Amino acid sequence: MKTFSIADTVLKNRYVEAPLAGFSDVAMRILAARFGAGLVYTEMISAAALSRGSLETINMVKETKRDEAPVALQLFGSDEEELKKAIKVCEENGRYNFLDFNIGCPVPKVMKQDAGSHLLTDLDKVYRLVKAMVDTSQVPVIVKSRLGYSNPEDCVKIVDVLQSAGVSAIAMHGRTRNEFYLGLPHYDLLKKAKEESKVPFIANGNIGVDNALEILAETGADAVMLGRKAIGNPMVFKQLIAREEGEPIPQLTLQNQVELMKEQLELEYSREVPPERISVEFRAAAPAFFQGFPNSRKIRSLLVKCSCKENYIDALNKIVEHRIDEDNKD
Ligand SMILES: Cc1cc2nc3c(=O)[nH]c(=O)nc-3n(C[C@H](O)[C@H](O)[C@H](O)COP(=O)(O)O)c2cc1C
Repeated sequence: MKTFSIADTVLKNRYVEAPLAGFSDVAMRILAARFGAGLVYTEMISAAALSRGSLETINMVKETKRDEAPVALQLFGSDEEELKKAIKVCEENGRYNFLDFNIGCPVPKVMKQDAGSHLLTDLDKVYRLVKAMVDTSQVPVIVKSRLGYSNPEDCVKIVDVLQSAGVSAIAMHGRTRNEFYLGLPHYDLLKKAKEESKVPFIANGNIGVDNALEILAETGADAVMLGRKAIGNPMVFKQLIAREEGEPIPQLTLQNQVELMKEQLELEYSREVPPERISVEFRAAAPAFFQGFPNSRKIRSLLVKCSCKENYIDALNKIVEHRIDEDNKD
């Protein structure tokens, strides 16, 4: 198994779980770690909220103490003082291997705060913020970016800026902000960005078991990051490892997905988060466990009605006993 390193840390393979707001909480990360992920990422965490002392947000930082694989804690923000204060809060409350800065998020809620990919409109500011983070953080800093705001060729310039600000690694989604999730990522430009990069480079965008090795070869990247393909499929890391080792790729079965979702549920409800919130938030991830299986739409409509742990367990029992129609008569 090929490894890669960031600063002094050797990651045991080249497969990284992406930051996924609303999904990559500590429960998802622990399962990814158990199936072999080389590096996992927290959801993006608001530097502004941390610097205000929001307990709910600080709890996201505290949860890194439970991580079972090397973890990157991701911050988003746009104010230098807030970011520096947030880093102190993270260092007092969390335990993580890397600090990541999000300059790729295209969603309006983040852009409105001049954060995420909005920062790609001002690379001088990116330099200042990243330099301040590198100078403040006790752990190596990674930046997760897109290829550019509107021009994908800007990726080379972005790599230069990040390197001169002192990052220890770069993760890049092969689309611009304006491309959102449309079309295919520009793997040719990820290759160009990687060639420019003197630090480890993680390629991201539409990567799964079928194409991970090919994209590693095509881009020359040191590692690949998986987002959507990891939601509802913690086994994806085991599948990636099996493929690299030339072993049979373990196939997903309904029974096994039920067991994995139960395991994630146990982990979710063991968090110090109000169970009502867990129940609602998990509705987004739950149907993904059964995507591509027969009756996945019926299963989805069963799962999105769940409002407590017992509901989820009941639903899973129905799924495995093929009794899903009982709840879908209406
Ligand atoms: C639901 C969702 C939440 C995301 N949250 C974050 C986030 O918190 N931070 C971040 O840098 N990127 C975030 N992303 C972007 C992913 O990390 C990744 O760059 C993108 O999904 C492309 O990779 P994929 O094709 O493997 O999904 C999110 C994407 C999705 C779909």
